[in-house]
Amino acid sequence: MGLNYYQIKKNVLKARKLVIKGTTAAGSGHPGGSFSMAEIMGCLFYKHLKYDTKNPEWEDRDKLILSKGHASPGLFSNMAVSGYFEESKMETLRQFGTILQGHPDLKCPGVEFCGGSLGIGLSYSIGNALAAKLDEKDTRIFTVMGDGETDEGQVWEAAMTAAKYKIDNLTVILDRNFIQQDSYTEKIMPLDEHLESDDLSEMWKDASRWKTGDKWRSFGWNVIEVDGHRIEQISNAITRAKSVKGLPTIIIARTIKGKAVEHMEDNPQWHGKAAKPEFVPIIEEELESQFMISPSIIAGDMTHLENEVKRCVDGRADYIHLDVMDGQFVPNTTFDNEKIKELRPLTVIPFDTHLMINEPVRYVKDYIDAGSDIITVHTEVCDESSFGEIHDLLKSSQVGIGLAINPDTELPTWSEKFIPSLDQLIVMSVIPGKSGQTFIESSHEKIRKLTQTLKDKKFEGYIEADGGVTLDNVGACFTDGARAFVGGNAIIGQNDVRVVIREFRNRILRSRRKLLIKKANELGGTDLVNKWIDLHVVGKKKDELLQISQELGYQ
Ligand code: DX5
Ligand code: ZN
Repeated sequence: MGLNYYQIKKNVLKARKLVIKGTTAAGSGHPGGSFSMAEIMGCLFYKHLKYDTKNPEWEDRDKLILSKGHASPGLFSNMAVSGYFEESKMETLRQFGTILQGHPDLKCPGVEFCGGSLGIGLSYSIGNALAAKLDEKDTRIFTVMGDGETDEGQVWEAAMTAAKYKIDNLTVILDRNFIQQDSYTEKIMPLDEHLESDDLSEMWKDASRWKTGDKWRSFGWNVIEVDGHRIEQISNAITRAKSVKGLPTIIIARTIKGKAVEHMEDNPQWHGKAAKPEFVPIIEEELESQFMISPSIIAGDMTHLENEVKRCVDGRADYIHLDVMDGQFVPNTTFDNEKIKELRPLTVIPFDTHLMINEPVRYVKDYIDAGSDIITVHTEVCDESSFGEIHDLLKSSQVGIGLAINPDTELPTWSEKFIPSLDQLIVMSVIPGKSGQTFIESSHEKIRKLTQTLKDKKFEGYIEADGGVTLDNVGACFTDGARAFVGGNAIIGQNDVRVVIREFRNRILRSRRKLLIKKANELGGTDLVNKWIDLHVVGKKKDELLQISQELGYQ
């Protein structure tokens, strides 16, 4: 389909919600492993995989082999989102007679492999890849494997075979979530270095211990390691894998089992258990409350922007905010598309280009060509016709579409028809022009109101708060409804970008936890609040939840 970053993200969200819907309706199933591979599936289904939902048997299609077949909800949900069948079909999951069985079955059109008996998907994929070569077809085989299943000897026989026959039309993606069945992989059958610490739930964070790649390398494979929840990294790895000739590629995606629902994250219990219906609305709210941090590099050393980009990468920013100022729309001048083009090769992190320039319609193409992932233009310098042009160009170029409003500007009526297809709305919380200004307090109210109006108008993008966002107000901005946060002075202006970004996330997480506790209270009073809190057994989440609940007077 070749969707842009933001649309892939939105589809991943839809798919995650369907996983919950299906498994809860069935009362069983595997949400944990479906969620750890959610972004991997998103990149395949909406960017890289060649298929035709109207003609699942299309001869020239690529093949997706889900070797870790127990994660079938994660496959079916994406098949539903991409149009193989109605989304409502997910509610038939695991029922007698449905095409959506607990493990993928060929009776479901579009399914390529009856996965579930673990350890055999790679051998099957090799057969398919060799057949494609014999037929001189341009078919690619994508195989998604679990880490637990690589305990099987057959996997390593297949690994040798793929290297021997130089099977380069095969890309394996290993969902390295560190959990198999009811425990951690490193306890059941270690794949990495011997683990000294007792705190196994923390071990996935310690990169120095990841040795799985060495095993595959020694079997003759090309190995690429990525953060398996970062769309841009997975997508880039798949593109690179496609260009490798003469050897098979494995992408080792470091993931978190149960990713995106805090109480399921990194908790073996959620390998094969469904959420209870009473929790579903809270889980949905949680899924819809993902957030992004976007440091603004103009707050750093303007003469060494390359270094500022590096600081964002090392600090694990989600996006990099690029403030383009032309000395006309705002008095200052920063940089233009040429600079962005120079910065682009430094990272795959999405570039969040904010054009504070006059007549953006004249220049938007240059900023697309420079490698922006989203481009935001100001309503103050657009009208229906020029924004329409910008909108269409961004859309056809697979670049995210953003609109920005100044503190004293309301959304113009002409913008209404574009709202459902906007990926981002920047609400300026300072008068644009420079970094380091103070957040305008009335922006809270403005974001709150906009959150409501936009929801009614079918907005599916993110509200981005831009200007004067700090550790002290970022949590409140989240509560208002913002889901992306620009940080100039408060992030790039600080010594340790990584520490400050982590703290930004903690503050936002606290607000999110509060939001969810309130929701639980609304739906089922203290009883549900306590049940919700009790689900959070891994790490220190429970302590904070209890504290929040006490503050709210629910305890
Ligand atoms: C303001 C810019 C912002 C700003 C952010 O004109 O659009 O992105 O530089 O910097 P801080 O967070 O320091 O206000
Ligand atoms: Zn900005």
